[in-house]
Amino acid sequence: MRYEVVIPAAGQGKRMGAGKNKQFIDLQGTPLIIHTLRIFENDSACDSVILVVNQNEVALFENLMSKHDIRKVHSIVVGGQERQHSVYNGLQAVGDTEVVLIHDGARPFVKKELIHELVQHTKTEGAAVLAVRVKDTIKRVENQHVMETVERSSLWAIQTPQAFLLPLIKEAHEKAMEAGYLGTDDASLVERMGEKVAIVEGSYDNIKLTTKEDLLYAEAILMNYS
Ligand code: CTP
Ligand code: MG
Repeated sequence: MRYEVVIPAAGQGKRMGAGKNKQFIDLQGTPLIIHTLRIFENDSACDSVILVVNQNEVALFENLMSKHDIRKVHSIVVGGQERQHSVYNGLQAVGDTEVVLIHDGARPFVKKELIHELVQHTKTEGAAVLAVRVKDTIKRVENQHVMETVERSSLWAIQTPQAFLLPLIKEAHEKAMEAGYLGTDDASLVERMGEKVAIVEGSYDNIKLTTKEDLLYAEAILMNYS
């Protein structure tokens, strides 16, 4: 049941438009990244956290972690140009674990029970991701006209954490790097190798804070919790 987790936090937060990396935005007085780190700090099944950050923000993250008493971050790694490069760098610092999780720093509400379900599935399936059923009708559009309505029952919105057997995700990242392939998530790098990825049904609350409106939703979720 044990695992290590790589947390990419080396983005710019451009779509949030906060004028700084969104990881440092306060939610109910505590920085976003601290909310995320606390989930793993408080999960005894988590052996180690590898935090991936921008070169010029290392000291900022270190100060925040010492202020908020976060002790499980055993490595701070410098990120890369794209999220995939940041995760790649983080994976190099993972220790001796069977299962590794990859979880966005900007996703502060994932629940421990779902993390554990994910880890269990990974042991038998090799790779597993949290996902929720799509609520909207999705249409494929070209030149501002509908091409088709995609059958909704087969559509899932994919979240993080995504969990993998360590050698599998390392190989997937190596192969993607060699081919110059950039995926929008880590599971897609495993999929392109022809390996299966299992779905664990998650929660709509496990949002990624991407644009300004997400901050309002995040505050509402936090109020509901306390
Ligand atoms: N991330 C990263 N390295 C990058 C880009 C993104 O570690 N080169 C991280 C972000 O910090 C975030 C997660 O990957 O925790 C998901 O990315 P996203 O939501 O796109 O965050 P940003 O890239 O920061 O935001 P934006 O795309 O709006 O600039
Ligand atoms: Mg981004």
